[in-house]
Amino acid sequence: MCDTGYSITRLVADLRELKVHAATQARMLEAVPQLVRRMMLAKHTWLRPSMCVPNAQGESAGIYRLHEEDDHSLAVFVVTWLPGDETPAHDHGTWAVIAGLDGHETNHWWKRTDDRSVEGYAEIQRAGSERIDASAIVAMPGDAIHSVHNDSGGVSVTLHLYGINVDFTERHKYDPASHVMAPYRFGGRRREVTDIQGGQR
Ligand SMILES: [Fe+2]
Repeated sequence: MCDTGYSITRLVADLRELKVHAATQARMLEAVPQLVRRMMLAKHTWLRPSMCVPNAQGESAGIYRLHEEDDHSLAVFVVTWLPGDETPAHDHGTWAVIAGLDGHETNHWWKRTDDRSVEGYAEIQRAGSERIDASAIVAMPGDAIHSVHNDSGGVSVTLHLYGINVDFTERHKYDPASHVMAPYRFGGRRREVTDIQGGQR
């Protein structure tokens, strides 16, 4: 099926509808992937090459903001990873849904194994991996820990949705060797869509 009728505008309307009804994290993680699937099927109508470029120096990820409410909720980004890019293990402090748009990368899951009794200390272990390609969607609660590695040899483009922009959540990165758990920020370039008319998004 080719869902050409869906758009960024309709995605945002549907996300707002869920939010108005105070959807729980569990409900968002059930509903949002279905909306994201429609975005993937209709990507040829909204995804532009200008959204899929790394930062100006060509050195790191490009982060392209499609939407964010005034209170920083319902944040939607297109993220472009260069070959070899890799994140530390991290959580988001909010629900997250990530979907492949072009190319592929590997998502690694981590499991926390300590008793969480020591501030700034965490023990984590690998807990599985999966390929994020143009047919894949992953959904995770706010305390899930993952890392991403673009091991594809090419650029990988993904769609990211967060309950709250992760620059405004308490999220953490984890070092499996030193067991240090520390605050983590998104980083990379962020640009806003300014050339898209409402109904066409
Ligand atoms: Fe992440």
